[in-house]
Amino acid sequence: MISTNSPYTVAKFLVPDVIFGVGVLSEVGQAVRRQGGVHVLVVSDPRVAEAGWTAEALGHLAAAGVSAELWDELTPNPKDHEVAAGCEVYAASGCDVLVAVGGGSCIDSAKAIAVLASRGGAIADYAGVGKVGGPLPPTVMVPTTGGSGSDVSQFCVVTDTARRMKTTIGARALVPDISVTDPRTLTTVPHDITAYTAMDALSHAIESYLSKAASFLTDAHALAAIRGVCEHLLPALDHPGDVCPRDGLAGASLQAGLAFTNALLGATHAISHQIGGLTDLPHGLLNAILLPHVMEFNATVAADRLADVAGAMGLRTGLMTPPEAADAAIQMVRSFAGKAGLPGTLREVGVRLADLDSVARNALGDAYIVTNPRPVSEADARAICELAW
Ligand SMILES: [Fe+2]
Repeated sequence: MISTNSPYTVAKFLVPDVIFGVGVLSEVGQAVRRQGGVHVLVVSDPRVAEAGWTAEALGHLAAAGVSAELWDELTPNPKDHEVAAGCEVYAASGCDVLVAVGGGSCIDSAKAIAVLASRGGAIADYAGVGKVGGPLPPTVMVPTTGGSGSDVSQFCVVTDTARRMKTTIGARALVPDISVTDPRTLTTVPHDITAYTAMDALSHAIESYLSKAASFLTDAHALAAIRGVCEHLLPALDHPGDVCPRDGLAGASLQAGLAFTNALLGATHAISHQIGGLTDLPHGLLNAILLPHVMEFNATVAADRLADVAGAMGLRTGLMTPPEAADAAIQMVRSFAGKAGLPGTLREVGVRLADLDSVARNALGDAYIVTNPRPVSEADARAICELAW
């Protein structure tokens, strides 16, 4: 049985113009034209370019009469100095629209460039929620990894290299104008990144479903996304060139993004951002390790919601109590990560025990800690990290 909302719940739902389907990359040029663009900055990365998607997007832009400046000098987990450099290229080239063709790093970089181009300053000035007023330069996002959900979200995450932590920036102005998802682009994603990004999408779906800001408008998307990742991740890993499971993962990622941009997230992301800022380890990998521990922490206050998660995963929960079903959902996450070949502990991926104190301290300042269903103290965050270590 799916939990219902209280009659006093206030629900808000903000999303971009979404175009989804096999072959829709061809619509990127017209999407830019609808935003009034004639000369765009395309933010992409070398891996996506090597797979041919950047060139295909540039071709569609040219066919629509849009000229483009290509900028691809960013790394995974985009850094503050990288987005500052991208902003200089955007301004010097006289661009009018930002187009991202890539994973979450490209999309978050495009958002950060939009902020700096219109507001100036340093990206760290905008850390937190509601510090970016609109409007920003128009953005058209083409996600090519199926996980980040940043193409529909009001958040971007940039690494503050001086403080070695990730900065989360949230504002309604950061919701992209148009999201163009072509599942074909996922067929060239390598095995490890497919696993990382799918586990990131699963963590978005589960954390947004458990969030204190969840509503009936986000619940439906969160549960559908859980179902989608569980159904399509392993087939996508086994048959990487098959577009059908990729279509399923891309759809799940999109729905997880629709859920979390409106319901926000929880302690998994609040903690993983800090470890990611410190170590530059892949975001989805850290979430996969932390998620079951945070679910266990939350089970004392959210067993009913976790039982819904178990149901969406396809588990037979009819004869289980909510705590039993919650535990089954937690074991399912562990099982999935294991089958996807991911390590199960922070120690295995090189996180140092000595770093956990600062990780726990900084996690309490992350924007997403507020909506975790169970209040998190510094000692709680430290205990979760130690269990995951
Ligand atoms: Fe994430």
